Amino acid sequence: MNTHPLTLLLVGCGKMGGALLQRWQDTRIANISVIDPNDLDCHAPGVSHHKNLESLSQNYIPDIVVFAVKPPQLPHILPAYRRRFESNPLYISIAAGKTIEFFRKHLGDDIRIVRAMPNTPAMVGEGITILCKTNSLSDKDKNSAEILMQVTGGIGWTEDESLMDGVTAISGSGPAYVFLLLDALTKAGVDAGLGVELARTLALKTVAGSCDLATRSPGQSFEQLRKNVTSPGGTTEAALKVLMEDDALETLIKKAVCAAAKRSGELSNE
Ligand SMILES: NC(=O)c1ccc[n+]([C@@H]2O[C@H](COP(=O)([O-])OP(=O)(O)OC[C@H]3O[C@@H](n4cnc5c(N)ncnc54)[C@H](OP(=O)(O)O)[C@@H]3O)[C@@H](O)[C@H]2O)c1
Repeated sequence: MNTHPLTLLLVGCGKMGGALLQRWQDTRIANISVIDPNDLDCHAPGVSHHKNLESLSQNYIPDIVVFAVKPPQLPHILPAYRRRFESNPLYISIAAGKTIEFFRKHLGDDIRIVRAMPNTPAMVGEGITILCKTNSLSDKDKNSAEILMQVTGGIGWTEDESLMDGVTAISGSGPAYVFLLLDALTKAGVDAGLGVELARTLALKTVAGSCDLATRSPGQSFEQLRKNVTSPGGTTEAALKVLMEDDALETLIKKAVCAAAKRSGELSNE
């Protein structure tokens, strides 16, 4: 554990950067400067907001710089960071698709860099972040990245960067799939005659409760947990016949995840 608070520069404070900032503010683990061109509501102690890199004090030396802008913006903004930070901070990127090689090309071969893929449940400390490093990263840098990202919820490491497109497709984009399911369940509840508030509550509690049950049942596969709800000739079986006919839902989800992973790969070149 560091004896002094980390000095952290967050570049981009939109949906994901904002979620990270909220956790870092709540846990007060760093002195944070934020660069984002928009007006932001971040007046917490230890947080300062700047609309661009130029408005940071020339004496400012961050321990860590986190890039949380859209992937296509990175090629345009990185040259200015390369010129500005000869101090060689630890860089962490959460941008989908952008490889460690990409950052080396734009910031220098000798940079210290971690590629991370968090997700928006980080905002409530229930996210999961997979971190990718090369084997040259020091234990100190690994520790600093862990301190920062473990506030998102859970973390895991890989040195196999080829996994990051799949990680992005499952956990990075995944909350959107779950919200789509919640929305579809709510609408189906309304179609079945329920009021919208009741349908929403039932959808939410059912998804959250099922996730909780599965988490607390490590010895049981998801398939077994599903079978536990399914009596022969019952209501669940009637619904599952529709969802599972010709593996309909599984095929659709595999297709969707494949499209997300492919898009992540494409983003590396944009
Ligand atoms: N959203 C997710 O669930 C999620 C999950 C995992 C990873 N990510 C990754 O996180 C990154 C950000 O995604 P997001 O969804 O948070 O996007 P976003 O909401 O658009 O946030 C990006 C922010 O960066 C700002 N920005 C633009 N140019 C900038 C510059 N030169 N310097 C500093 N800030 C600048 C944007 O301002 P303007 O809007 O005014 O341009 C915006 O506020 C992406 O690379 C994405 O792949 C996102």
